Amino acid sequence: MARKPIIAGNWKMHKTLTESVEFVHELVPLVAEFTGVEQVVCPTFVALAAVADALQDSDIGVGAQSLHWEAQGAFTSQISPAMLQGIAEYVIIGHSECRAYLHETDEMVNKKTKAALAYNLKPIIAVGESNEQNEAGQTQTVVSGQIRAALDGIDAANMQHIIIAYEPIWAIGTGKNASGAIAESIIGGTIRTTLSELYGDAIAQSVRIQYGGSVKPDNMAEYMSQPNIDGALVGGASLKTDSFAALIQIAQEQKGS
Ligand code: PGA
Repeated sequence: MARKPIIAGNWKMHKTLTESVEFVHELVPLVAEFTGVEQVVCPTFVALAAVADALQDSDIGVGAQSLHWEAQGAFTSQISPAMLQGIAEYVIIGHSECRAYLHETDEMVNKKTKAALAYNLKPIIAVGESNEQNEAGQTQTVVSGQIRAALDGIDAANMQHIIIAYEPIWAIGTGKNASGAIAESIIGGTIRTTLSELYGDAIAQSVRIQYGGSVKPDNMAEYMSQPNIDGALVGGASLKTDSFAALIQIAQEQKGS
Protein backbone atom coordinates (compact mmCIF):
# COMPACT_ATOMS: atom_id res chain seq x y z
CA MET A 1 0.00 0.00 0.00
CA ALA A 2 1.32 3.43 -0.89
CA ARG A 3 2.32 5.58 2.05
CA LYS A 4 0.30 8.80 2.19
CA PRO A 5 2.61 11.79 2.59
CA ILE A 6 2.26 13.69 5.86
CA ILE A 7 3.37 17.26 6.52
CA ALA A 8 3.29 18.45 10.12
CA GLY A 9 3.90 22.02 11.26
CA ASN A 10 5.63 22.19 14.62
CA TRP A 11 4.89 25.68 15.87
CA LYS A 12 7.11 25.28 18.94
CA MET A 13 6.66 28.24 21.34
CA HIS A 14 5.13 30.52 18.72
CA LYS A 15 1.70 32.13 18.26
CA THR A 16 -0.79 33.26 20.85
CA LEU A 17 -4.25 31.76 21.05
CA THR A 18 -5.68 34.47 18.78
CA GLU A 19 -2.84 34.18 16.28
CA SER A 20 -3.18 30.41 16.18
CA VAL A 21 -6.89 30.50 15.37
CA GLU A 22 -6.42 33.24 12.77
CA PHE A 23 -3.64 31.23 11.17
CA VAL A 24 -5.72 28.11 10.65
CA HIS A 25 -8.68 30.08 9.32
CA GLU A 26 -6.34 31.50 6.71
CA LEU A 27 -4.70 28.13 6.02
CA VAL A 28 -7.80 26.01 5.41
CA PRO A 29 -8.81 27.44 2.00
CA LEU A 30 -5.18 27.43 0.82
CA VAL A 31 -4.68 23.70 1.27
CA ALA A 32 -8.18 22.21 1.02
CA GLU A 33 -7.60 20.88 -2.50
CA PHE A 34 -4.43 18.95 -1.59
CA THR A 35 -6.27 15.90 -0.36
CA GLY A 36 -3.45 13.52 -1.25
CA VAL A 37 -1.41 14.87 1.66
CA GLU A 38 -2.15 14.42 5.36
CA GLN A 39 -1.84 17.88 6.91
CA VAL A 40 -1.16 18.51 10.58
CA VAL A 41 -0.55 21.58 12.73
CA CYS A 42 0.97 21.34 16.21
CA PRO A 43 0.14 24.49 18.23
CA THR A 44 1.09 25.15 21.84
CA PHE A 45 -1.05 23.47 24.50
CA VAL A 46 -3.01 26.65 25.27
CA ALA A 47 -4.17 26.95 21.67
CA LEU A 48 -4.80 23.26 21.05
CA ALA A 49 -8.52 23.07 21.83
CA ALA A 50 -9.39 26.30 20.01
CA VAL A 51 -7.40 25.25 16.93
CA ALA A 52 -9.03 21.80 16.97
CA ASP A 53 -12.40 23.53 17.13
CA ALA A 54 -11.54 25.86 14.25
CA LEU A 55 -10.42 22.88 12.14
CA GLN A 56 -13.38 20.66 12.89
CA ASP A 57 -14.83 20.85 9.38
CA SER A 58 -11.48 20.65 7.60
CA ASP A 59 -9.14 17.76 6.80
CA ILE A 60 -6.28 19.32 8.76
CA GLY A 61 -5.32 17.31 11.82
CA VAL A 62 -4.10 18.68 15.13
CA GLY A 63 -1.08 17.50 17.06
CA ALA A 64 0.32 18.28 20.51
CA GLN A 65 4.02 18.99 20.92
CA SER A 66 4.53 16.62 23.85
CA LEU A 67 2.72 14.75 26.61
CA HIS A 68 3.36 13.07 29.95
CA TRP A 69 3.07 9.30 30.19
CA GLU A 70 0.81 9.18 33.25
CA ALA A 71 -2.95 9.60 32.90
CA GLN A 72 -3.03 12.02 35.85
CA GLY A 73 -1.14 12.84 39.00
CA ALA A 74 1.16 15.20 40.84
CA PHE A 75 3.21 16.34 37.85
CA THR A 76 3.03 20.13 37.93
CA SER A 77 3.06 21.69 34.46
CA GLN A 78 2.48 18.44 32.58
CA ILE A 79 -0.28 17.39 30.16
CA SER A 80 -1.55 13.81 30.17
CA PRO A 81 -2.61 11.65 27.24
CA ALA A 82 -6.12 11.51 28.70
CA MET A 83 -6.31 15.31 28.48
CA LEU A 84 -5.26 15.28 24.84
CA GLN A 85 -7.70 12.60 23.80
CA GLY A 86 -10.53 14.05 21.77
CA ILE A 87 -8.55 17.25 21.08
CA ALA A 88 -5.33 16.12 19.41
CA GLU A 89 -4.91 13.29 16.94
CA TYR A 90 -1.10 13.33 16.87
CA VAL A 91 1.65 14.04 19.37
CA ILE A 92 5.31 14.87 18.76
CA ILE A 93 7.57 12.82 21.02
CA GLY A 94 11.33 13.03 21.49
CA HIS A 95 11.89 16.31 19.70
CA SER A 96 15.55 17.21 20.02
CA GLU A 97 14.66 20.45 21.83
CA CYS A 98 12.84 18.37 24.48
CA ARG A 99 15.73 15.93 24.63
CA ALA A 100 18.26 18.77 24.98
CA TYR A 101 16.49 21.37 27.15
CA LEU A 102 13.99 19.24 29.08
CA HIS A 103 16.22 16.18 29.43
CA GLU A 104 13.80 13.85 27.70
CA THR A 105 15.60 10.50 27.62
CA ASP A 106 15.11 7.51 25.33
CA GLU A 107 13.31 5.79 28.20
CA MET A 108 10.87 8.72 28.54
CA VAL A 109 10.34 8.73 24.78
CA ASN A 110 9.41 5.06 25.03
CA LYS A 111 7.00 5.64 27.94
CA LYS A 112 5.40 8.59 26.15
CA THR A 113 5.00 6.58 22.95
CA LYS A 114 3.26 3.77 24.83
CA ALA A 115 1.03 6.25 26.67
CA ALA A 116 0.08 8.00 23.44
CA LEU A 117 -0.86 4.71 21.77
CA ALA A 118 -2.91 3.65 24.79
CA TYR A 119 -5.01 6.78 24.31
CA ASN A 120 -5.30 6.44 20.51
CA LEU A 121 -2.95 9.33 19.82
CA LYS A 122 -0.59 8.95 16.86
CA PRO A 123 3.02 9.50 17.93
CA ILE A 124 5.38 11.42 15.67
CA ILE A 125 8.68 10.17 17.09
CA ALA A 126 11.63 12.45 16.39
CA VAL A 127 15.14 11.04 16.16
CA GLY A 128 18.41 12.49 14.95
CA GLU A 129 22.09 12.92 15.65
CA SER A 130 23.98 15.96 16.90
CA ASN A 131 26.65 17.76 14.92
CA GLU A 132 29.41 16.08 16.96
CA GLN A 133 27.91 12.63 16.46
CA ASN A 134 27.54 13.36 12.77
CA GLU A 135 31.15 14.40 12.42
CA ALA A 136 32.31 11.38 14.41
CA GLY A 137 30.52 9.08 11.94
CA GLN A 138 28.02 7.91 14.57
CA THR A 139 24.80 8.90 12.78
CA GLN A 140 23.61 5.39 11.95
CA THR A 141 24.34 3.99 15.42
CA VAL A 142 22.68 6.94 17.17
CA VAL A 143 19.56 6.95 15.00
CA SER A 144 19.07 3.23 15.06
CA GLY A 145 19.60 3.19 18.85
CA GLN A 146 16.98 5.92 19.32
CA ILE A 147 14.49 3.99 17.18
CA ARG A 148 15.05 0.74 19.06
CA ALA A 149 14.72 2.48 22.43
CA ALA A 150 11.58 4.41 21.44
CA LEU A 151 9.87 1.28 20.15
CA ASP A 152 10.92 -1.08 22.92
CA GLY A 153 7.96 -3.27 23.84
CA ILE A 154 5.68 -1.84 21.15
CA ASP A 155 4.03 -4.54 19.08
CA ALA A 156 3.76 -4.73 15.31
CA ALA A 157 0.03 -3.94 15.28
CA ASN A 158 0.72 -0.49 16.69
CA MET A 159 3.25 0.45 14.02
CA GLN A 160 0.50 1.58 11.64
CA HIS A 161 -0.22 4.46 14.06
CA ILE A 162 3.38 5.61 14.41
CA ILE A 163 5.17 8.21 12.31
CA ILE A 164 8.92 8.70 12.55
CA ALA A 165 10.68 11.99 11.87
CA TYR A 166 14.38 11.99 11.08
CA GLU A 167 15.67 15.37 12.21
CA PRO A 168 19.45 15.80 12.29
CA ILE A 169 19.94 18.26 15.16
CA TRP A 170 22.50 20.28 13.22
CA ALA A 171 19.82 21.02 10.61
CA ILE A 172 17.07 22.25 12.95
CA GLY A 173 16.47 25.97 12.79
CA THR A 174 19.94 26.51 11.37
CA GLY A 175 19.16 26.92 7.68
CA LYS A 176 21.72 24.12 7.14
CA ASN A 177 19.50 21.35 5.78
CA ALA A 178 20.67 17.79 5.09
CA SER A 179 20.76 17.05 1.37
CA GLY A 180 17.97 14.93 -0.06
CA ALA A 181 20.47 12.15 -0.70
CA ILE A 182 21.73 12.12 2.90
CA ALA A 183 18.22 12.21 4.34
CA GLU A 184 17.21 9.41 1.98
CA SER A 185 20.17 7.27 2.98
CA ILE A 186 19.37 7.54 6.70
CA ILE A 187 15.60 7.16 6.25
CA GLY A 188 15.63 4.50 3.56
CA GLY A 189 18.79 2.83 4.85
CA THR A 190 19.25 3.08 8.61
CA ILE A 191 15.67 3.64 9.76
CA ARG A 192 13.82 1.23 7.47
CA THR A 193 16.52 -1.39 8.06
CA THR A 194 16.12 -1.02 11.83
CA LEU A 195 12.33 -1.27 11.48
CA SER A 196 12.75 -4.34 9.32
CA GLU A 197 14.96 -6.00 11.92
CA LEU A 198 12.35 -5.25 14.58
CA TYR A 199 9.11 -5.94 12.70
CA GLY A 200 9.90 -7.47 9.30
CA ASP A 201 10.06 -5.92 5.88
CA ALA A 202 6.35 -5.41 5.20
CA ILE A 203 5.92 -3.23 8.29
CA ALA A 204 9.22 -1.44 7.68
CA GLN A 205 7.94 -0.47 4.24
CA SER A 206 4.57 0.69 5.55
CA VAL A 207 5.70 3.12 8.29
CA ARG A 208 5.73 6.75 7.27
CA ILE A 209 9.02 8.56 7.84
CA GLN A 210 9.41 12.33 7.59
CA TYR A 211 12.49 14.45 7.20
CA GLY A 212 12.83 17.55 9.38
CA GLY A 213 15.39 20.33 9.67
CA SER A 214 15.27 23.62 7.75
CA VAL A 215 12.65 22.37 5.29
CA LYS A 216 11.49 25.22 3.06
CA PRO A 217 9.52 25.58 -0.16
CA ASP A 218 12.74 25.81 -2.15
CA ASN A 219 14.21 22.53 -0.85
CA MET A 220 10.99 20.56 -0.34
CA ALA A 221 11.00 18.99 -3.81
CA GLU A 222 14.47 17.60 -3.13
CA TYR A 223 13.05 15.60 -0.20
CA MET A 224 9.75 14.64 -1.72
CA SER A 225 11.46 13.23 -4.79
CA GLN A 226 13.24 10.64 -2.62
CA PRO A 227 11.50 7.27 -2.57
CA ASN A 228 11.67 6.73 1.20
CA ILE A 229 10.79 10.22 2.46
CA ASP A 230 7.09 10.49 3.19
CA GLY A 231 6.80 14.13 4.17
CA ALA A 232 8.25 16.65 6.57
CA LEU A 233 8.18 17.88 10.15
CA VAL A 234 8.53 21.61 9.73
CA GLY A 235 9.37 24.36 12.20
CA GLY A 236 10.13 27.81 10.81
CA ALA A 237 8.43 27.40 7.43
CA SER A 238 5.20 26.23 9.09
CA LEU A 239 4.69 29.59 10.82
CA LYS A 240 3.52 31.41 7.69
CA THR A 241 0.47 30.24 5.79
CA ASP A 242 1.99 30.84 2.36
CA SER A 243 5.17 28.81 2.98
CA PHE A 244 3.33 26.02 4.81
CA ALA A 245 0.74 25.79 2.02
CA ALA A 246 3.56 25.74 -0.55
CA LEU A 247 5.15 22.74 1.19
CA ILE A 248 1.84 20.89 1.13
CA GLN A 249 1.33 21.72 -2.53
CA ILE A 250 4.80 20.38 -3.43
CA ALA A 251 4.09 17.16 -1.51
CA GLN A 252 0.78 16.85 -3.35
CA GLU A 253 2.42 17.36 -6.73
CA GLN A 254 5.21 14.89 -6.08
CA LYS A 255 3.54 12.18 -4.05
CA GLY A 256 -0.14 12.95 -3.50
CA SER A 257 -2.56 10.68 -5.29
P1 PGA B 1 12.97 23.89 11.43
O1 PGA B 1 12.50 22.96 12.65
O2 PGA B 1 12.11 23.52 10.25
O3 PGA B 1 12.75 25.30 11.88
O4 PGA B 1 14.41 23.57 11.17
C1 PGA B 1 12.18 21.62 12.45
C2 PGA B 1 11.75 20.99 13.75
O5 PGA B 1 12.31 21.32 14.80
O6 PGA B 1 10.86 20.12 13.77
